[in-house]
Amino acid sequence: MSTDLREKDTKVPSNKLHNFLVAESLIDELVKRAFGMRQFAYTPYSGFKVGAALLAKNGDIYGGCNIENAAYGPSNCAERTAFFKAISEGVREFAAIAIVGGPEEGVKDFCAPCGVCRQVMAEFCSPEEFYIILAKSPEEKKIFTLEQLFPESFTPNDLK
Ligand code: THU
Repeated sequence: MSTDLREKDTKVPSNKLHNFLVAESLIDELVKRAFGMRQFAYTPYSGFKVGAALLAKNGDIYGGCNIENAAYGPSNCAERTAFFKAISEGVREFAAIAIVGGPEEGVKDFCAPCGVCRQVMAEFCSPEEFYIILAKSPEEKKIFTLEQLFPESFTPNDLK
């Protein structure tokens, strides 16, 4: 899945895209995409539908939804779906993710990423420069760095 955000919104080289996250238009686009991904969530057990939109540093956006399973354990969160889609296509550098979750009828609250998803983010993303955008509506957003949501984490550096 690719996007023309580079031309349309930022007019900067793709490798500089992550410096322009403050651009409201880019955040809005990610939130819109995350809301849109909720329609694909497969949630017969929880009924809780999560959508995610992961912005790679090359400007591409990968959508994800949660995918549940009758055996419960194999269920996958929206965030990890988005990450694994990107990584399986050779993309490993990321700037931000927007996350939207709630019951089918509508999103009532902010939906923070689970611990397993935070650990996956920590494998690939900079603690200070990767942004996690939680949205309750297109207007109501909270933005954190990965460091804020996942301090003192165990990362690939710890194995060196
Ligand atoms: N879920 C996500 O996809 N992302 C989150 O950030 C929190 C939880 C999913 C897992 C499960 O399918 C459902 O939401 C209820 O926990």
